[in-house]
Amino acid sequence: MRIAVTGGAGFIGSHLVYKLISLGHTVIVIDDLRHGLRSNVPEKAGFVMLDIKSSAISEIIERGAFDCIIHLAAQTRVDISIENPRKDAGSNIMGTVNILECAKKYGVKRVIFASTAAVYGDPPIQDLPLEELHSRQPLSFYGLSKMTAEAYFELYHQIFGLEYIIFRFANVYGERAEVDDEGGVINIFAKKTANNLPIYIYGDGSQSRDYIYVGDIVNGIVAALQTKHVNEVYNLSTGQEVTLCEILNILRHISGQTLTPVYKESRSGDIYRSVLSNEKAHQLLSWHPYMTLENGLARTYQYFLDISQLETASQYGGDL
Ligand SMILES: NC(=O)c1ccc[n+]([C@@H]2O[C@H](COP(=O)([O-])OP(=O)(O)OC[C@H]3O[C@@H](n4cnc5c(N)ncnc54)[C@H](O)[C@@H]3O)[C@@H](O)[C@H]2O)c1
Repeated sequence: MRIAVTGGAGFIGSHLVYKLISLGHTVIVIDDLRHGLRSNVPEKAGFVMLDIKSSAISEIIERGAFDCIIHLAAQTRVDISIENPRKDAGSNIMGTVNILECAKKYGVKRVIFASTAAVYGDPPIQDLPLEELHSRQPLSFYGLSKMTAEAYFELYHQIFGLEYIIFRFANVYGERAEVDDEGGVINIFAKKTANNLPIYIYGDGSQSRDYIYVGDIVNGIVAALQTKHVNEVYNLSTGQEVTLCEILNILRHISGQTLTPVYKESRSGDIYRSVLSNEKAHQLLSWHPYMTLENGLARTYQYFLDISQLETASQYGGDL
């Protein structure tokens, strides 16, 4: 297939592009590198440095004659969306509409979209694990802009017949993650452990999330390329709740360190528990997450450890 990946120089996008290339697809990455890295993109993939809001996207989509666009490029930080809703909406709503408009105009068959668990907000605990039909009440402009973009996909299908698949990712972790991103705690804890920095826990550490390894997200997107179950929304998650204390314990085991966290007062507005049902993706896409938390965390920790050792080596002129 001929596939365009917006945001393909970022964390999830780069893992996806490597996988698509290995499967024999022709891939063009569209990314303005505001957050991603050119070095994340494999040599075999084409690369266009462009903002998804740009009118020049039209020409790229026309020339590319793509079978599918996988739309990952986004403003991904909740805090930035609160500080600067205009910036967030620019990328996540106007950028998405630009991609959809070009897809419609140049006959792209299918567009796959990265949405987020943040669209659900903080629902009552008895509703967990959340299914896709659960009401959406985002608590941030990031959640709102993704929810709005989802609605554009649904209407582009209704009005123009454009095929879509929307994925709501849980918290994604793994190699190449940025620690300020949505995936959050696992990436932060793994990096701090690798760098011998103190770990802070806001609250008592019993708050939970659904952490999914990036390779499992990639497999879900790949399953969406061929499926007949289109024009659907799927959670991509493990369906398992994991607490901060459990993550710390696994990291202690992996790193051999004692890891005594510094406990701080819980932050207002933090969601206490979160977990998404993955039953629909399992049933319709035959997708299932394969990575155990122990192995995924070990890989993530090793990645940050390797970087930290490289940085130390370069400080000492390569002699360690
Ligand atoms: N990481 C997570 O835990 C998580 C969870 C839920 C949803 N998501 C969604 O998955 C997608 C990928 O997230 P990620 O974690 O890989 O983030 P990332 O920041 O690593 O990747 C996003 C990429 O998009 C690019 N980009 C951003 N705005 C752009 C613009 N206007 N024009 C062109 N390129 C632009 C960035 O340079 C970056 O390379 C995002 O849509 C995000 O909202 C991520």
